[in-house]
Amino acid sequence: MEQGKKRIYSAIQPTGIITIGNYIGAINNWLKFLDDFDSIFAIADLHSLTVRQNPTEYRQRGLSFFAQLLATGLDPEKCVLYFQSHVPAHTELTWLLNCFTYVGEMQRMTQFKDKSAKNEDNINMGLLDYPVLMAADILLYQVHYVPIGIDQKQHLEITRDIAMRFNNIYGDVFTIPEGFYPKVGAKIFSLQDPTSKMSKSDPDPNGAISIIEDPDSIARKIKRAVTDSEREVRYDVENKPGVSNLLVILSAMSGQSLESVIDKYTGYSYKDIKEVVAEAVIEHLAPIRAEYTRLMKDKAYLMETAKEGALKAAYIANKTLRKVKRKVGLVELK
Ligand code: TYM
Repeated sequence: MEQGKKRIYSAIQPTGIITIGNYIGAINNWLKFLDDFDSIFAIADLHSLTVRQNPTEYRQRGLSFFAQLLATGLDPEKCVLYFQSHVPAHTELTWLLNCFTYVGEMQRMTQFKDKSAKNEDNINMGLLDYPVLMAADILLYQVHYVPIGIDQKQHLEITRDIAMRFNNIYGDVFTIPEGFYPKVGAKIFSLQDPTSKMSKSDPDPNGAISIIEDPDSIARKIKRAVTDSEREVRYDVENKPGVSNLLVILSAMSGQSLESVIDKYTGYSYKDIKEVVAEAVIEHLAPIRAEYTRLMKDKAYLMETAKEGALKAAYIANKTLRKVKRKVGLVELK
């Protein structure tokens, strides 16, 4: 970790698949920070236990997500990449922060309400406490920016509230983090229902594309993407959400600005634009898929990298944790 650089932190839950929504909304932005910021990224594998997981699948998916993140270009020489569950400071700080968080504010969280509605038979404490664990993730690392999609904004806001509340009592213990959202693509929509978020655990496999999906399947899903009853491409989020979503995906995947994509493709037929989008997505993802396949053959490397990441993360996290414990008056062992 270099002195003087600002720090960024973000994480992803190992559920479902890593979608092009996750990629465009978050990971692609993480990559842009690598050279100029101290960058720390985690697989939030404790967060996803709030929903019941099959242990064997979950273990495999954790490793697969780790390899996928590496394959996108998150070079372990340039960032810290680790599993949340390998750094016990996260759960310890969660407890301490719990004592500075109100039940009412957790009950009002949109995601808590949504997830409770979906898992009526398992509204567990973890689900309610989820944002506090996320606050602990971020605050442990004294982070300046958190690059996330717009759906995580409320969690970032509550993280800031908790941090300020703590700082008001004990002095400047935590850096107050700011959310960082992409200008284009902070919310990518489902290909099948362009008014709802592309979700990594969408039960409809045609709604989302994985970053390691095979080219034929990508082309097929984009071809089937829901548009509208008109014929010509026009960027109009309100009246043409499906087509507009495709243009945003094209912009992010081809590296062209949204303005130039709109300029270039307005008036195209739906069939033609879908071909252009499919080609851009396939081309952008091809090296990620190839690198992922290579990495998955080298489990020893993956485990070694995860271990190094955890050690580096723990070093930083433990410093903050010690400070918090001291501030609240716990007896220290010297
Ligand atoms: P998760 O795992 O749901 O998503 C990972 C990241 O992808 C973004 N994202 C999207 N962006 C644009 N369009 C979409 N359709 C889309 N779907 C997801 C999310 O905003 C996120 O940035 N609670 C977090 C994980 C987390 C975390 C953290 C994030 C745990 N601790 C600390 C930041 C800092 C989550 O469930 O993200």
